[in-house]
Amino acid sequence: MKEKLYNFPQYYDVAFSWDISREIKFFQELFTKYVPFEEKNILEPACGTGRFLVKLPEYGYHITGYDNNPKMLIFAKKRIIDAGLQNIVTVEKKNMKSAKFKIKFDAAINSINSIGYLLSDEDILSHFKNTGESLKSKGIYIVHLACACDHPEFQEKPDDSWILEKEGIKIKTTWLIDKYDIEKKISYQTCKMEIDDHGKQTTLEDHHILRLWFFEDIKSLIRKSEKFKLEAIYDEKHKQISLDTHISGELGNLYYIFKAL
Ligand SMILES: C[S@@+](CC[C@H](N)C(=O)[O-])C[C@H]1O[C@@H](n2cnc3c(N)ncnc32)[C@H](O)[C@@H]1O
Repeated sequence: MKEKLYNFPQYYDVAFSWDISREIKFFQELFTKYVPFEEKNILEPACGTGRFLVKLPEYGYHITGYDNNPKMLIFAKKRIIDAGLQNIVTVEKKNMKSAKFKIKFDAAINSINSIGYLLSDEDILSHFKNTGESLKSKGIYIVHLACACDHPEFQEKPDDSWILEKEGIKIKTTWLIDKYDIEKKISYQTCKMEIDDHGKQTTLEDHHILRLWFFEDIKSLIRKSEKFKLEAIYDEKHKQISLDTHISGELGNLYYIFKAL
């Protein structure tokens, strides 16, 4: 199913326009802690409208992003040109399943469950192998994702609503988990946007099919890829969580630090 949300980059970009400077500072701390060389070149799979692409250069990084949605890419490219960043930021049309690069990046980031759009073990493994080969040895891949919740009552209504406004467009976004198919490891989710675009009201409701992640699968797919090792995990407050913690969706979106072998 084609997600409509990503065909409306101008609305995506308002709905997800929260301040990411604290998150970028956290990434910098992780780079300093885990990467034993100076990090300059960053890769962002599934870069969307380029929130990180235009922000990371402020911190001295060069960045390459890719996405498989042409509309997101057109938006991101214009934004990069408008910011005069075309010499240090590159965007390409690629799919996470198969994207690989000849140059070796120092680190990679994958934000807000974007990796969830890879559903099968085979596609995830291919992504891990190709991304691992596109990173320098001892570089890191920071993957931000939520695992399945343990408790059914939590699964039924862990909804998340927020309102953001930018340049005359105000959007209330609600992201809901509809149901899990535990056997097929699929999470069915709905994103609803109530949009006020310069006084014109519309609603965009969109269904997303995402991988239902279990911690055991993260560990085993990373091991099978032979390209990474799971180095560390951090929570939304950027506090480190021990690798032997019981990990479930109740802990929220976590940052997994994969270290390239
Ligand atoms: C939640 S958005 C995140 C965008 C961006 N990383 C951010 O933080 O704003 C998910 C993005 O994943 C992209 N996407 C989904 N499946 C993909 C795939 N198989 N390969 C590349 N990009 C994909 C969508 O087009 C969308 O731009």
